[in-house]
Amino acid sequence: MDGFELRSARFLAAQAQEQVLRPGNTAVDATLGNGHDACRLAELVGPSGRLIGFDIQPDAVKRSRERLTGAGLIGRCELHAVGHEHIAEIVREPVRLIVFNLGWLPGGDKSVTTRRETTRRAVTGALTLLEPMGVLTLCAYPGHEEGEAELRMLTEMFSALRPQEYNVLHQRFLNAGPGAPECFIVQRQAGNRKRL
Ligand SMILES: C[S@@+](CC[C@H](N)C(=O)[O-])C[C@H]1O[C@@H](n2cnc3c(N)ncnc32)[C@H](O)[C@@H]1O
Repeated sequence: MDGFELRSARFLAAQAQEQVLRPGNTAVDATLGNGHDACRLAELVGPSGRLIGFDIQPDAVKRSRERLTGAGLIGRCELHAVGHEHIAEIVREPVRLIVFNLGWLPGGDKSVTTRRETTRRAVTGALTLLEPMGVLTLCAYPGHEEGEAELRMLTEMFSALRPQEYNVLHQRFLNAGPGAPECFIVQRQAGNRKRL
């Protein structure tokens, strides 16, 4: 793509991810799905970095493992067939980037979708894992009932974060119609770093 383009929640999240990750960083994909995001993130952290992934569906983890293996990236990855609500029990190190892409697996069982309460626990844990200047990106899909409940919960939760600790951006395409995906980008503050 040449020049600036306002495209979609996922596109905006991916742009932020590319700017945040450097070789050697640790990243978490909290919703592996088919492994597309995981492959992109594993490329960005390079051979000296690490990608830790979660999905509640063993099939999704299997598909992601196959995709990462095919791309020659599995050596830098640690995949868990565990709900992301356990993220803070499993990840024991500061993380540069944590990615949530909510909803259900494209082409999979729509009844296995992310849910408000587990998403709340996962995001609460994830925020504690971010290193200074570390970033969490989250794409939410309010086009179905559970997705709408998740979006309401997240908007409340992120709005209540102390600005001394986190900056939160909420991107919403105002003319895209009801149910259009929305993106949140949260950055942990560095402390007393000078700002523009
Ligand atoms: C929209 S898909 C993710 C797409 C993926 N990032 C990709 O690049 O293909 C959402 C995923 O979240 C997973 N999921 C649902 N509840 C979960 C939970 N509690 N913990 C972790 N993953 C969960 C679903 O199984 C599904 O694979």
